[in-house]
Amino acid sequence: MDRIWIPIIIGFICVCAQQCPERNGRFADPRQCDKYVECQEGEATEKLCPDGLLFNPKVGLFGYPCGYPKDVDCTGREATQPPQATSECPHQFGYFKVGDAANCGQFMNCADGRGYVFDCPEGLAFDSTNYQCNWPDLVDDCNTEEFLGFSCPEEKVSSLGPVGFGGFNSFRSPDGDCTRFFICENGRPRLFRCGVGRAFNEFIGTCDGAENVTGCA
Ligand SMILES: *[C@@H]1O[C@H](CO)[C@@H](O)[C@H](O)[C@H]1NC(C)=O
Repeated sequence: MDRIWIPIIIGFICVCAQQCPERNGRFADPRQCDKYVECQEGEATEKLCPDGLLFNPKVGLFGYPCGYPKDVDCTGREATQPPQATSECPHQFGYFKVGDAANCGQFMNCADGRGYVFDCPEGLAFDSTNYQCNWPDLVDDCNTEEFLGFSCPEEKVSSLGPVGFGGFNSFRSPDGDCTRFFICENGRPRLFRCGVGRAFNEFIGTCDGAENVTGCA
């Protein structure tokens, strides 16, 4: 039995020892995406990115080696350290969606476990895959209709295409706010706003002088 086990143990130790593929550089851990080995003159030091950030092998030797998940490919090394959540943040660092599928317009930036909440521009939803605010119908985990408080009417297709009131595919806001209106694209609404002193005119399907729209002057 001993003779069988000894070579296996030696092999195990060799695999686990810190090795530098090159004298200087940073090298991804084969299993854990937020871990890497930093080699200086052939001397290896094991390092861990702050919780929420991941080792990005594409960053040069003099750049900061840890990045946000959207910028790092963890394929094959998906493990990470246990999250260090705080009362405000799921991880110490990162960008996170705030709210449920009906409340998509806010996100939080966490730094050292402290969360700072930001609003997307009106009518846009936070997309956690690229940390950008986008049309809600393009954001997977957003319920566009609930978020905007508007559902597009079933499309009446004429020879001119889908039509709304008066033949336009734009609609006044049901909340009575004269400056807001919705344009339906493929049956999904997007929110727009007319400029100062202007109001959505459903008879022409676009913004008009507020004095030209009944009840909006
Ligand atoms: C109001 O409507 C009239 C007639 O269509 C148009 O000439 C005028 O420019 C409109 N007012 C504004 C402020 O757009």
